[in-house]
Amino acid sequence: MTDCQGEGAKSPMELYEKLTAKGDEVRVLKTAKAEKAEIDAAVQLLLKLKIDYKQMTGQDYKAGCPPSENSVAPNNGPAADGADDEDTVDPWNVSTNNAKGVDYDKLIVRFGSSKIDKELVDRIEKVSGQKSHRFLRRGIFFSHRDMNQVLDAYEKQKSFYLYTGRGPSSEAMHVGHLIPFIFTKWLQDVFDIPLVIQLTDDEKYLWKDLSLEDCHRFAVENAKDIIACGFDVNKTFIFSDLEYMGASPEFYRNVVKIQKHVTFNQVKGIFGFTDSDCIGKISFPAIQAAPSFSNSFPQIFKGRKDIQCLIPCAIDQDPYFRMTRDVAPRIGYPKPALLHSTFFPALQGAQTKMSASDANSSIFLTDTPKQIKNKVNKHAFSGGKDTVEEHRMYGGNPDVDVAFMYLTFFLEDDEQLEKIRQDYASGALLTGELKKLLIETLQPMIEQHQERRKQVTDETVKQFMTPRPLNFNF
Ligand code: TRP
Repeated sequence: MTDCQGEGAKSPMELYEKLTAKGDEVRVLKTAKAEKAEIDAAVQLLLKLKIDYKQMTGQDYKAGCPPSENSVAPNNGPAADGADDEDTVDPWNVSTNNAKGVDYDKLIVRFGSSKIDKELVDRIEKVSGQKSHRFLRRGIFFSHRDMNQVLDAYEKQKSFYLYTGRGPSSEAMHVGHLIPFIFTKWLQDVFDIPLVIQLTDDEKYLWKDLSLEDCHRFAVENAKDIIACGFDVNKTFIFSDLEYMGASPEFYRNVVKIQKHVTFNQVKGIFGFTDSDCIGKISFPAIQAAPSFSNSFPQIFKGRKDIQCLIPCAIDQDPYFRMTRDVAPRIGYPKPALLHSTFFPALQGAQTKMSASDANSSIFLTDTPKQIKNKVNKHAFSGGKDTVEEHRMYGGNPDVDVAFMYLTFFLEDDEQLEKIRQDYASGALLTGELKKLLIETLQPMIEQHQERRKQVTDETVKQFMTPRPLNFNF
């Protein structure tokens, strides 16, 4: 964010705190009968901060009333400044007119989250004692809420747990679906903490034209791909809502508590529900919120309700957790912290995310080496020039090139990636050569995934999905 907004405040809360401090300062100056010029200067700054606050949150500043997490200006109309260039990002739609993809810096301002800057990446590295994951080094996980608080507590030996999830809408998962799981696995390894994974088969039943049986079957099938990411069965609990909701009174009690503290008006504002949406959809957000509270899992946390939760997820899931963070203090629980990722672009370009329903928009986890090669060569949007001569002369544009974008997700070596970027931009590296590098990165990665998935039996899935204590002492 630019400095003109709240002197660099990164979130509505930070700006609110600055405003409160400035208000106090003005009061002190007035009481002390300070010079008029000095008082005027402070008042001017106060007014400016108030304008910034209104801009950021869409609400007027009121002393003693901290901003609600849901004070995000909803994006269901033209932008406030009249320009109609805003990106669409909600749990069901992601789109932008920009070939480089969604403007994530703007999203941070709109959602009121904080940027994961170099300082935070370094701090995660220091506290975990491990080199940061490439998703952190490369800004793929780019935004957060309260991560510093999680690290402060961890440094004082106060542990936390991870919560992530997946909506099982089909049997087929694509590489984009793995992003949060690859990163969550890394977090589990470096911090050595419990993990719960919610499979929202109920959500998919409510939103899609699918039977309950199919949704549940997809949940179990997807669990196999998730397990193949390498999670430790002694540290991980995977659950389907359709199963666990009925088996855990504690989980359901939290759902009901949340339901009592969120109004229809609020979910309408956050999710855009209308009068003709079924009541299942309207109450579903409470079910995605409940795993953020540790006492939803008494078998793991021995009934404790105060264990801090950290949620790695794609930024489109944030509306659920803004709502969760808003209700948490009102029902006596800590607010979950969050780490947000960017979207994995479709092969056709970064204007939208990959879709499981379009076979040519994605690389599936079941694709053969040949299918991978064909899809990348035929469908990956290229930032290269039309002819080799032109390309050699002017160079390609890695910022809109999907093969290059995919390499930023999956190629581990920073130096090699930077060299590829420079060579592509200079024209030394041709589109076909860049695509070949991607194909050679994806083929073994997918093959290894398929190998690991083959090892996952129904028995393994059952183990992961059985409510039980994990290897942690709470
Ligand atoms: N709603 C998510 C989806 O459709 C699934 C989900 C449930 C989730 N809980 C989560 C995702 C927590 C991230 C974090 O994919």
